[in-house]
Amino acid sequence: MKTIGILKEKSNDWRVCLLPQAVKTLNDRGYDVITEEGLGNGIGLLNQDYKNVGASVYSKDVTIRKSDIVCSINHNYNNEKLDHHTSFIGCFNPLFFRNALNVYPENSSIYSIDLLPRTTLAQGMDVLSSQASLSGYKAVMLASNYGTRSIPMFTTAAGTIQPARVLVLGAGVAGLQAIATAKRLGATVDAFDVRSSAAEEVKSLGANFIEVPGYKESKSTGGYALVQSVNFQRKQNELIHEHAIKADIIITTANIPGKKAPILLKEKTLKQMKLGSVIVDLAAEQGGNCELVKNNRITTCYGVTLIGNSSLAKTIPSSASTLLSTNYLNYLTAFLENAESNLIQSTLVLENGIIKHPKIIQDSQNLQVI
Ligand code: NAI
Repeated sequence: MKTIGILKEKSNDWRVCLLPQAVKTLNDRGYDVITEEGLGNGIGLLNQDYKNVGASVYSKDVTIRKSDIVCSINHNYNNEKLDHHTSFIGCFNPLFFRNALNVYPENSSIYSIDLLPRTTLAQGMDVLSSQASLSGYKAVMLASNYGTRSIPMFTTAAGTIQPARVLVLGAGVAGLQAIATAKRLGATVDAFDVRSSAAEEVKSLGANFIEVPGYKESKSTGGYALVQSVNFQRKQNELIHEHAIKADIIITTANIPGKKAPILLKEKTLKQMKLGSVIVDLAAEQGGNCELVKNNRITTCYGVTLIGNSSLAKTIPSSASTLLSTNYLNYLTAFLENAESNLIQSTLVLENGIIKHPKIIQDSQNLQVI
């Protein structure tokens, strides 16, 4: 039977990828589970909580050395000695952060759950959706906190306060959750996405969809967005500018897998935005949708607060861990049943130290040609 190790994340991330309930399930199925000491401390869990469900608790070194499969959320391998072949499972965004793969030795393989296709079959393991959903919600909370205006409409004896205007750029999982949260708080919401199929979803949440004619779609991208023509981008920029300068809050979420995020808010727009308005850029890690945003920083430019943060789910670690734990347990179940299945193989990044993911191989070849 295989031994499964679970690592504690680094200090600014209190999430855990498997909660005690999931460890109990693995233990009941006959797997040995080892947790790194202190796992879950940040969300009020003790080593004893993991011991109570059958796990052993060790230092990070020993956890890695004794395990066949090591689970974490972020990369957490720092040249620890491996006595035998070890599979590392996490959410590593390897299409964008390729250099992080270089530290893994020959007797290791890496599987990145965020590479799963966005299909119904993989829904229960979809870490991107579960974390993006929480990030979309938290983005609105944070914007409300940093903004200078209330969100709902107030009608009082002292007069009426109009509802806040919220603009959401990118109506994928995070964007739709941001729209739903802002609508629940009573905001007037406009949203934009290059995928025309997002229009129905935006409208069904009661928001206004900003239409830009001339979008090109392709079935081969698995539902993800394509880079658009220059003409389309010009029209899109004009419309976004018009809406942005009226907004109190802008939440941006637009991403293209493995690529730098598209710039949707330029400095010229920021200069004309309302003083005291807030932009929360959830694409900051991949360069950001707002030209002046800094990843993991809160800054002010032209009287607008810019919040660059692509992992707001981290700021609600208990909720994030609850969803992640289900995602990881579902993934591990499929992995342990048949690691050669198409679903699991779609997440294989590195096998015995050699890059296996076709997209990463293809991108490295393109780089060499250039
Ligand atoms: P993402 O995080 O890759 O991007 C966020 C949003 O930004 C997307 O809606 C994308 O179309 C949009 N975007 C990209 N470039 C843009 C630009 N220049 N301007 C404006 N918007 C831009 O997307 P996410 O949320 O991870 O979803 C990706 C796809 O997967 C979507 O089609 C979604 O519906 C689908 N999906 C399917 C699921 C399933 O189980 N079938 C589950 C979750 C997502």
